[in-house]
Amino acid sequence: MSELAGTRVVVVGLGPMGRGIARAFDAAGADVQVVDVTPKATLAGLEKTRSEAEAEQQALASTTAADLETAAPGADLVIEATVENMAVKRELLARLAQLLKPETVVASNTSSLSIGEMGQAFGDPGRVVGMHFFNPPMKMRLVEVIVAAGTSARTAERARGLVAALDKVAVTCADSPNFIVNRVCRPLYYEAQLLTTQGIEPAVVDAAATGALGHPMGPLTLLDFTGLHTHLASSETALREFGDPRYRPIPVARSLVRGGFTGRAAGRGFYDYGSEKPRVAIDRVVRKPASEAPASVIPAGPDADLVSGWLPDSSAGDQITLYACRRAPTSADADAVRRLAADGPVVVDSSDGHWLELLPDGVGWVHLHRSPRGRLFVEVVEDDVAGIHGPEHVDRLLDALAAPSVRVPALPGLVVDRLAHCMINEASTLVEEGIAAAQDVDTALRLGMNHPRGPFEQLELDGVGRVYGSLRSMAEVVGDPRYRPSQLLRRQAAGAVRS
Ligand SMILES: NC(=O)c1ccc[n+]([C@@H]2O[C@H](COP(=O)([O-])OP(=O)(O)OC[C@H]3O[C@@H](n4cnc5c(N)ncnc54)[C@H](O)[C@@H]3O)[C@@H](O)[C@H]2O)c1
Repeated sequence: MSELAGTRVVVVGLGPMGRGIARAFDAAGADVQVVDVTPKATLAGLEKTRSEAEAEQQALASTTAADLETAAPGADLVIEATVENMAVKRELLARLAQLLKPETVVASNTSSLSIGEMGQAFGDPGRVVGMHFFNPPMKMRLVEVIVAAGTSARTAERARGLVAALDKVAVTCADSPNFIVNRVCRPLYYEAQLLTTQGIEPAVVDAAATGALGHPMGPLTLLDFTGLHTHLASSETALREFGDPRYRPIPVARSLVRGGFTGRAAGRGFYDYGSEKPRVAIDRVVRKPASEAPASVIPAGPDADLVSGWLPDSSAGDQITLYACRRAPTSADADAVRRLAADGPVVVDSSDGHWLELLPDGVGWVHLHRSPRGRLFVEVVEDDVAGIHGPEHVDRLLDALAAPSVRVPALPGLVVDRLAHCMINEASTLVEEGIAAAQDVDTALRLGMNHPRGPFEQLELDGVGRVYGSLRSMAEVVGDPRYRPSQLLRRQAAGAVRS
């Protein structure tokens, strides 16, 4: 028998989220009652829930329509998924306070509003908790359990127990703007947009995120899919709530929204869907390697050990030296590269913006990544403005590595590290602030975004010293507080040097 058999769940608000949450509890064996604003809206919502369930071969076992006054007194859990408006939610909670028995758990599916404020509106904050399901709730396994300062440990535990009984995974998060997933992804979206304003095609950004980091969808394709107006509104909320200029929205989002280019549904956002779909654009900007390309790649430089395991095992063809230097380069690095280049072709492997001034003539500049699937993906620096043109041996290197690649300008962090390291920095800030545990952050990004690696797994892979150094270089070269490394990363980097 299901763990939830006999558990009475009332779902209030029958938009896409409420309908999906009702189906998830129904499928897990709970006794579900659904409520919308009027009896007519409730019946229509139930009908829609039923037809969506049938379209996915689910027969609703227990779900029935009700009104709040009759359903609430017997409820073990009330979960509200009404419109994202605090005034509506406050009024509902005040009504519920008059109807519920003392042990009922009151949960909100809000994606951005304060659970603490809802606890105040309910009058008994200990019983109010956030249960943030992801869309669509039937498919997405993650639920962020939001524990406000006033939420009791018992309520938080019951919420986590309910999530487990749904066969979903709960991560715990303090009551803080954007919770975990949306907060850690904020710099991913911001940096992706900023890159487009620095002369990079959206498809290059998306190709880099999917090819190197294994994200199932590039950030700009995803923003277009979600709707730029929704993203802009949440960015403005983040800036207001945090009061930190690093959260300020990117002006391009505002101008696209004002022009009506709100994304895929509008036919245009970062991509123009009438002329070229993202998949086609990404395919166009990625250089594919030639199939037959003998060359032996010799690792050198301070990070030779890191990349040597990624290189093909070939002694055929010409030798190309790959000078891997993933910390900020010094003039000694530039001298070493110059000496190597006197003997044969050399390519530097780095994302550090300081190479802009240090790269010797005739030397290539790339940055290698090993994707979570174990495939290589390369960023190749080509910059007309800065006069950086990859010599011919860069293409031979790419063919020898059998690696797809994109061309990027000489911006600090290039594309991939800028996206990945800014996400790590945000995740680290969130842990430093005590909002969530690192392990929960990784779980949340894996399940909520289908990222193959959580930010702390990426940190482990790239190394804390390198990530801290990369953020410092970005902060120094760009001078924007967006790149200010967290004090936790700074202390960890110092600890790693001492140990
Ligand atoms: N859409 C998403 O991807 C997503 C994901 C996670 C969380 N959320 C959050 O979940 C909640 C619902 O999202 P949605 O997209 O399903 O919303 P929606 O706006 O599409 O639907 C809200 C529903 O609530 C009903 N409603 C409004 N006031 C009510 C009241 N007083 N009593 C009963 N019903 C009422 C409306 O009639 C409507 O059917 C919001 O808080 C939202 O932020 C949304």
